[in-house]
Amino acid sequence: MPKGKVLITGGAGYIGAHTAVALFEAGYEPLVLDNFSNTLPSAIDAIRQLTFDGLKVYETDCCDYQALEEVYLNEKPVGVIHFAAFKAVGESVRLPLKYYKNNLMSLANVLELSVKHSIKNLVFSSSCTVYGQPEHLPVHEGSPILPAESPYGNTKQIGEEMVRDAVQSGAPLAAISLRYFNPVGAHPSSKLGELPLGTPNNLVPFITQTVAGWRDQLTVFGDDYPTPDGTCIRDYIHVCDLAEAHVAAIKTLEKAEDSYSGVDYINIGTGRGHSVLEVIHAFEDTTGHKLNYQIGPRRPGDVTAVFADTTKSKKALGWSPKYSMEEALVHAWNWQKTLKK
Ligand code: UFG
Repeated sequence: MPKGKVLITGGAGYIGAHTAVALFEAGYEPLVLDNFSNTLPSAIDAIRQLTFDGLKVYETDCCDYQALEEVYLNEKPVGVIHFAAFKAVGESVRLPLKYYKNNLMSLANVLELSVKHSIKNLVFSSSCTVYGQPEHLPVHEGSPILPAESPYGNTKQIGEEMVRDAVQSGAPLAAISLRYFNPVGAHPSSKLGELPLGTPNNLVPFITQTVAGWRDQLTVFGDDYPTPDGTCIRDYIHVCDLAEAHVAAIKTLEKAEDSYSGVDYINIGTGRGHSVLEVIHAFEDTTGHKLNYQIGPRRPGDVTAVFADTTKSKKALGWSPKYSMEEALVHAWNWQKTLKK
């Protein structure tokens, strides 16, 4: 007996596609909605190979209220997972209004339509960026929310507030904002992975593209931070573990259907921090490939160190990650090897 349909906005993107597969494996019918502005249609073939041929795909922009309402009317999902958003931190500094308009309008439409059509369960993609540089590590959900470092980060903070206010207005809505740490890796089948269009901003795709010969050299952004080896520390979470956290969030909201109407915030990380040099050396050790890298200046806006307190994710979702960072790096490399420039 299928558990019901779950609408995944941004479902053809990196995290959305892995979540579609995880939902299918958990017995749900994933509905993929994407405007394909930052992902290739080939992701759909891969999701279909890992799920089923009849997977429904809507080429829809969440900013288009009427088109989005058609999907709500057609499908009546049991829940919505809202990934669709622009996500390049640097670009958001140059083009802030592009980010505010797209990320906030799409969320407003999702919230309004979910209330209008009585779709109670909502999972919102948030980010550890809301914590800025926390004073105490690991960072927990009650840690202070600091002023955002970028318009992108600000859309996540405002997004959390929009979700909270919509829920607290008394609307029949329950929501979980998942605060992701650094998603890395690829599906173990190598059919799905991260494919940034253009030059990657993020560390792991830059590493794999450099080793593959697509880029000459990786620059490590600063080795004079107050950390053991001088490079920044992050909490790298395998994208399949992150996808499972979404399934757990939907199940938690569904289970709480009658007793719970509220809003929650949950860190999704491993609880372990790794420096940039540790990631590079782990990649070299596990794949046997040397990486051409140099030390460069700091990147503006980078925080020194952030990693998650995972107590709440274990307790509230019954979820914990299965993969190590090393396994994530091997999966990212196996995926890279399938790609043509
Ligand atoms: N790094 C390098 N060289 C590179 C790329 C990254 O040294 O070429 C370093 C960064 O300086 C940082 C670490 O690798 O220390 C991780 O950088 P990423 O760009 O992969 O990830 P960020 O932690 O900067 O950003 C991620 C998400 C954002 C989110 C942010 C919240 O990509 O969407 O976490 O902290 F907002």
